[in-house]
Order: sequence, then structure tokens, then C-alpha cells
Amino acid sequence: MKEQLEQIKLNALAALDAAATPASLEELRVKLLGKKGELTAVLKQMGKLSPEERPIMGQMANAVRADIEAKLEERKAAIHAAVLEAKLAAEAIDVTIPGETVAVGHQHPMNQVLQEIKDIFVGMGYTVVDGPEVEFASYNFTRLNIEEGHPSRDRSDTFYFDDNDEVLLRTQTSSMQIRFMETHTPPLCMLAPGRVFRKDEADATHSPMFHQIEGLVVAENITMGDLKGALINIMNKIYGHDAQVRFRPHHFPFTEPSCEMDMQCHKCHGTGEIDGNVCSTCHGEGWIELLGAGMVHPEVLRNCGIDPDKYSGFAFGIGLERTAMGRMKINDLRLIFDNDVRFLNQF
Ligand code: DAH
Repeated sequence: MKEQLEQIKLNALAALDAAATPASLEELRVKLLGKKGELTAVLKQMGKLSPEERPIMGQMANAVRADIEAKLEERKAAIHAAVLEAKLAAEAIDVTIPGETVAVGHQHPMNQVLQEIKDIFVGMGYTVVDGPEVEFASYNFTRLNIEEGHPSRDRSDTFYFDDNDEVLLRTQTSSMQIRFMETHTPPLCMLAPGRVFRKDEADATHSPMFHQIEGLVVAENITMGDLKGALINIMNKIYGHDAQVRFRPHHFPFTEPSCEMDMQCHKCHGTGEIDGNVCSTCHGEGWIELLGAGMVHPEVLRNCGIDPDKYSGFAFGIGLERTAMGRMKINDLRLIFDNDVRFLNQF
């Protein structure tokens, strides 16, 4: 019996050493220590032993059981660790493999210029406002002193929504002058950037949709000198140097007197030609029209409930695309709207 126990122990330890999975360990546990197991079978024969032998064999059997149990625990821990190790190895992430580059976008060049311009005006105390693109003719035309029958109201120039020509896609951000003055009292300083729409054929300097930035200042004793000073100051800030600009007399129904401001062509530097050919950016003019401006017409002030005898003001409308073209040295307006990434990536 003693040999039997020795044999069971030796076989058990060897089998446990060879077991590699939790399932095979469990199978061995049942086989060795279970009710129908080998050890139990031996213990059942204890009755046949003499009273002197019985406690000795009993002790020995218990020691064998303890050894097997200890080995079982040891193997359990080892197998658990091995399984964990294998799992970690299989699921490991190699952090040294270079990742896929994510293309990071940036603001559209025109928005970059708009942001710069807004910052400049905010720094000068202007309030930046937004307004509707679908507008009433009364704001876009009538209250701006643009009379019935004026060519800009023509259906061949303006997109209307109705048969009475009362609702339209705004053709100018000047509508915001009225909207701002009817809700604010002087002194006031407003900047209103936004999209405007006209039935224009697209070419290097025209597009049926483009952006304007409307400016309006109304207070006591505002003069044309303030207008010129403000605009020259702003152009120098936008272009970062002594901007070459010129003012020309012009006519707008909502300002009196009115003017336009041109910027020297950045492509031909005012000569109007490139290598003997007419400059395609300014059509040979040497100058690019950037904005219309003027002293707010007394009638427009009156239309908004502001007393023209007490207050005066100036207004201007900057063409954003053209300003961006000069600022970013872009030669064709259509590039701004094409959204070709090869173009956009340059900014
Ligand atoms: N709204 C005019 C246009 O689209 C531009 C303009 C001219 C705006 C004179 C003004 C202004 O505010 O005073 O051509």
C-alpha cells in the first residue's frame, strides 16, 4: 500500500507538470482527488490494514493528498500567468508603428482675410453684425434712397422671389445700414460682412455671389476727412504697408458726396500690362476697384429716424474677394470659389 501511494504521488506530480490548460488541470483534480479518484480508491482499502498500520498509512495518504493539492495550486497559478502572458502578447499594440497622417484643414483664404479685417475694425470700436441674405426691397433699395425704376432694381440684375419685386436676394450689404440704424441710436459704428447676389456673368473679377463688408459710422460732426482717414488707415493695416490707393468721385443714391476707392493692381503694379500684354487681373486699368463709400445721404438718415441736422456719417462697402485677391496675390476671382485643394493648400 505504501508503494501504491508513492506511485500515485509520482504519477500525479508528473501529470500535473505536463498539464497546460485550466481544463486539463480540472480533469486531473477529479481523477486524483475526486470521490472516484485514485487516492480515494486506496483509502477504501484501509479497512484491511492492521490497527497499528492504519494511522501510519492514514498519515501518509494525507501527506500525498497535501502534496498533490499544493502542486495543483502551483500549476493553476502558473497556467493562469501563461494564459495572461499569451493574451497580452497577442493584443499588444506596437506604438512605434507610424500612424496614418490626418490631413488638417485650415480656414479658406478669404475667411482668413475677413477675420483679419474684422479684428482691425473691432480694434477700432466697430460692432460686427450679421443680417439676412433674403431681404425686402425696402431695405435693399427704397430706404437707401434708390428710387423706383433705378437700373439696379432691374430683374436682369437682381434675383427676386416674388412678382411684386418686394423680396429678393440682397444685392448689397448696404441693407444692413438701414437695419442697424432703425435699431440703434448715434453715435454708432457698425461692420456688416456678408454674401450678396447679382445676375453677373463670372469672370476674373466678377461672380454672381460675392462678399461685401459694409461699414457705417454715424455721430455728430463726422466729415469726409474721417471717411478718408479711416479707409486709408484700414488699408494700411490690411496690407501692412503704405497701400497705394486712390479715391475717385462717384455716385451712389444713398451717399452724398460719394466716391470709390481703388487699389493699385498687385499683378502689374499699376502699369496695366505684363510683358507687353494687357494685365488680365485689372484689364489694363492698373487699378482694382475695392470699395464704394460716401457721406450718408440725409434722406437715408431721415428714413431711419435720425436727425440729419444733428448727425452725419460715412459708409462704405468693401468687396471682400477683391481685397483677398490683393492681399493673397490671387489673380482670378473664380479660384476663390472653385475650392480646388491644390489652390487652397497654398494658404
Ligand atoms: N453698396 C454699394 C455697392 O454694392 C457699395 C457702397 C457704396 C456701399 C457706397 C456703401 C457706400 O456703404 O457708402 O456697389
